[in-house]
Amino acid sequence: MEKYYITTAIDYVNGAPHIGHAYEKILTDIIARHYTQRCDDVYFLTGTDEHGIKIQKTAAAQGITPKELCDMNAKKFKDAWKALDIDYKKFIRTTDEDHEKIVQKIFDKLLKQGDIYKHSYEGLYCQGCECFLNPKDLTEDGLCPDHMKKPEVVKEENYFFKLTKYKDILIKYIKEHPDFIVPEFRANEVLNQLEDIQDISVSRAKSNVQWGIDVLSDSEQSIYVWIDALSNYITALGFDTENPSDTFKKYWPADVHVIGKDILKFHSIYWPAFLMALDLPLPKHIFAHGWITIDESKMSKSLGNVISPTSVLESFNLEHPDAFRYYMASSAPCGRDGNYSDNDFKEKVNAHLANSMGNLLNRTLSMLVKYFDGEVKPEFKGENPLAKKALGTVQIVKNHFDNFEIAEASLEIISLVDATNKYVQDNAPWTLAKEEKMIECGQVLTNVLDIMCIISTLIYPYCPNIAADMARQLSFNLKTKLDDLTADNIKTGKLISKEDIKPVFLRVDSELADKSAKK
Ligand code: MSP
Repeated sequence: MEKYYITTAIDYVNGAPHIGHAYEKILTDIIARHYTQRCDDVYFLTGTDEHGIKIQKTAAAQGITPKELCDMNAKKFKDAWKALDIDYKKFIRTTDEDHEKIVQKIFDKLLKQGDIYKHSYEGLYCQGCECFLNPKDLTEDGLCPDHMKKPEVVKEENYFFKLTKYKDILIKYIKEHPDFIVPEFRANEVLNQLEDIQDISVSRAKSNVQWGIDVLSDSEQSIYVWIDALSNYITALGFDTENPSDTFKKYWPADVHVIGKDILKFHSIYWPAFLMALDLPLPKHIFAHGWITIDESKMSKSLGNVISPTSVLESFNLEHPDAFRYYMASSAPCGRDGNYSDNDFKEKVNAHLANSMGNLLNRTLSMLVKYFDGEVKPEFKGENPLAKKALGTVQIVKNHFDNFEIAEASLEIISLVDATNKYVQDNAPWTLAKEEKMIECGQVLTNVLDIMCIISTLIYPYCPNIAADMARQLSFNLKTKLDDLTADNIKTGKLISKEDIKPVFLRVDSELADKSAKK
């Protein structure tokens, strides 16, 4: 694998980030970090979607300019991603000057080649979706099913993109590429939507929407959000209709666009059609994740249950975001909805990260110090009965990531931790020491530590701070590529002294964790 280009959806900046936005960025960061373990060149793009009527109206209601609103909220997204250790390479804002210029050129090219045309239109516009809705998709009461709001009737002369021209070729493409839309069960929904697809509006009258990119050849019209927003995936790389940059040539097509299920239509119908019109290759995968609910109900401002990701870190006094990352990433099987609850969070991370994984390392290192003064002797090395399971887990985890099964992969890692714990229980190194079977005792401990190196590598994408702490205590190079992993990782000689043993994760809500966070 030479390169891996991965993107998230770009978030609307009419509010602050919540844990639904965070879920997507965490999943994407975990996939990106996993691929750094398989490939040297990973490009991870995220950013904010800053134009449109929603932002224009929110800014007006707050008595500030749209740009001021965008600057203020884009910063909140950046700060939140920093707190969550989201290690993106580029953060694009659709108000970036170079993005705006290229979007104008893309629009102009499509207009000149006849893929975009002007047309007078009356339709039902949902501000929440920032798109026109088909009357047949509304609820019985005439509401948008996603936002439960009545769409407004808009009558305007707009520019339209000839989506219908691409209908048949898109249907064929989706049928021939079963792994284009992930999970596969969503492809049927898309094929159904394609059946009655119509040409789509790609501009709004300036008189109604001022906060948008001007159509180059028509100052009365602003380019409307989706063609602007979707283009971020190529403008960020320096795409140009005349002279695309080397970065673009190197990274495009994207390996995956990670998005929520609500915006799948835009990514698997509109975007591929725009790309075909531009004569560009399509992304390899569109991965549509599910929604995060709070205590099993939808997160919404009106219900007052919107949770900010940084408030979770603060309320649990977390030193780093690993526990939250782990919990979110393992909250739902691929493409399904997940749920956040404070209690479940506490229970899960205490059980998996503190009791199972953290304790295992801590106990094993403590025994090595107690019985052998922290030294791994050459005679402790030999056949490791856990090797097969551990190296098998590496392969299974890789396969899961290839299918974007991030929660499923985390379960495999925990199952390896459990098997390792069971090995310790079954072989009771404390009893071996009591019986003065010191070589056997040293062998058991060394076998476990060798496997802990593999576990630290596998858990790294989810919990980069915990993994670094584990690797440091094991004197193991965390940058080892997955394909280079063996079951022989611990060097012989002095490994650790008592004072260097440190719990890698303290139980959430424990007094100790509280003290260490306050320090
Ligand atoms: N701006 C568009 C995306 C343009 S991509 C070229 C948009 N923005 S959004 O802020 O509404 O949503 C951003 C991402 O967050 C989307 O992928 C959306 O599905 C995701 N989520 C928003 N709320 C969510 C949950 N409650 N749960 C999980 N993800 C959800 O759509």
